[in-house]
Amino acid sequence: MKFKLIVGAVIIGSASLVTYIITKPISLEKSISIKVQALVKSMTLEEKVGQMTQADIPNISAFQVEKYHLGSVLNGGGSKPYGNKRASITDWLEVADEYYEASISTKEGRAAIPIIWGTDAVHGHNNVIGATIFPHNIGLGAANNPELMFKIGEISALEVRITGQDWTFAPTLAVARNDRWGRTYESYSESPDIVANLADDIINGIQGINNFEKNTLAPKNIIATAKHFIGDGGTLNGDDQGDNQSTMQQLRDIHMPGYLPAIDANVQTVMASYSKALGEKMHGNKSLLTDVLRGELGFDGFVIGDWDGHAQVEGCSTVSCPQAINAGIDMMMVPNDWKGFIEGTIKDVNDGKISMSRIDEAVTRILTVKMRMGMFEQTKPSLRPFANKVELLGSQQHRDVARQAVRESLVLLKNENNILPLDRKLNVLVTGPSADSLQNQTGGWSIDWQGNGNSNKDFPNGSTIFDGIKSVVESSGGSATYNRMGLIKKGADLPDVAIFVFGEKPYAEMFGDRDESGMRQGKQDGETMMYQEKLKRDLKAIQRLKKKGIRVIGIFVSGRPMVVNDELTQLDAFVAAWLPGTEGNGIAEVIFKNNEGKVNYDFKGKLSFSWPKNPLDAELNIGDEIYDPLYPFGFGLTYETNSQ
Ligand code: GLC
Repeated sequence: MKFKLIVGAVIIGSASLVTYIITKPISLEKSISIKVQALVKSMTLEEKVGQMTQADIPNISAFQVEKYHLGSVLNGGGSKPYGNKRASITDWLEVADEYYEASISTKEGRAAIPIIWGTDAVHGHNNVIGATIFPHNIGLGAANNPELMFKIGEISALEVRITGQDWTFAPTLAVARNDRWGRTYESYSESPDIVANLADDIINGIQGINNFEKNTLAPKNIIATAKHFIGDGGTLNGDDQGDNQSTMQQLRDIHMPGYLPAIDANVQTVMASYSKALGEKMHGNKSLLTDVLRGELGFDGFVIGDWDGHAQVEGCSTVSCPQAINAGIDMMMVPNDWKGFIEGTIKDVNDGKISMSRIDEAVTRILTVKMRMGMFEQTKPSLRPFANKVELLGSQQHRDVARQAVRESLVLLKNENNILPLDRKLNVLVTGPSADSLQNQTGGWSIDWQGNGNSNKDFPNGSTIFDGIKSVVESSGGSATYNRMGLIKKGADLPDVAIFVFGEKPYAEMFGDRDESGMRQGKQDGETMMYQEKLKRDLKAIQRLKKKGIRVIGIFVSGRPMVVNDELTQLDAFVAAWLPGTEGNGIAEVIFKNNEGKVNYDFKGKLSFSWPKNPLDAELNIGDEIYDPLYPFGFGLTYETNSQ
């Protein structure tokens, strides 16, 4: 917590200038510190190490939380209450209550320390059926609207509170520099300026502003995570969890800017990156995790490790990593081997590999955050103000904000003869693999980790891009037909226009890396940035429509820019829609006129990632000495000017 010194220059008396340094009442932070110190003093080594351990919910029972004094649990990508993908809100709350009550048990004189449950709510509460799912960060970077980010953070946090969790592992503050990286879409931009422009607003939305000065979180807020510190988006060849070979100055200039406003916004946790920086795996990198993050940047929450990330440190395993704890990781994410980790770490302390003062420091940081967020005054999750407010999960009001985010994230890259906006009275053929697919629209980190095990029914409140087009044209006497392959019934009239929605299939993390392993696993179709490198299926589909004399609008649903030169040559207009989430209807609101035949919503989005023309240009960023994109960073046409 940073008490900003309020320096008031006050002129008192005749001429003397007296400067008063007025600090906020020291009572809050001081009172927390006194309570925490007393609590730490009362804890056994087992309790302390348990507090520093986070387990994945499928692998730990409430009984074990009590027995081993766990400080935290998470539901990792794909983990659900009772292993049920369609777990209900009451299921989530039931499990949250069980863990909570186990954690505050005082059996055998143990310290009652409320557990905190972390979840990847990275574009809304994306693990829960019915939740509002916002565009992924790459689209939000194109929108680049700080006020909107605050609202998205606030809504995401509130929907997490409905199911009883306390903490989200968001926002990702990566500055993705090589678009082969499977997590490019989790980055707002290749530009550190855009990442820095949005970081504090999303965090303030999630955590609330000034909450911690009242020593609690407002009931609708949760704690946030700035991740993955540092340099996750700058690895060689975009290799996920790979080697960022930046110099310290490049880390500061390119990969650090998002963390400054994040820390200024009192972000309470930072997650360490899997990647290497300055030649050392981040989970064991004391100079960056402690000397820079704390000493220089003033971060004073706690550092959480990534999913067994500590085991990647030389000489470490999932059950023992003194290097990571000594480097500055306060809580370890040990999804499976959490019991072994507790035993191994206790042994490491007894063997003198980790000092008790370091253990006490880590526990102090964790308990300080728990006290700041008012955990010790909270009731069990199901009795908290927003618990089980089913009417708020995916509510119209929340989805209206998500639809605004979709509209503002769209980037118009081509608009031949001003074909857009389209008149609503047209007979429209909607086609392509992503035209009627909420799975493709939401992408990875949606209901399950990879986002590829879903169907439209898994998003009951969502709308596909086709849904949106259909409702818009039919409201004005037009018609919309969906045919995935673009086939037109024999003898039927040709449509006035075709809208071809294409792009990437869902993926997450390393499964999205465009490299030979991604190809071997059949997850990616090439190592370059060429779209459909092997079989140009979508190009052929567009050509078939054009051969019939039909004008074609292309909507590209993807987690990154890709080389689509051949497709572009055929298309009359081209819109980058990124991964828009559940509100596909936001797209129709922009590409069609209103009922009066005027512009309904103009395009606002500008490229936050340079768009390559050369398949080998995976690492193409604004500021490069040699910079030759197809569409430059910041580019985006509008109806008003039909130019930049
Ligand atoms: C993953 C990701 C991280 C996520 C964590 C928990 O491996 O790297 O972003 O928060 O595990 O799911």
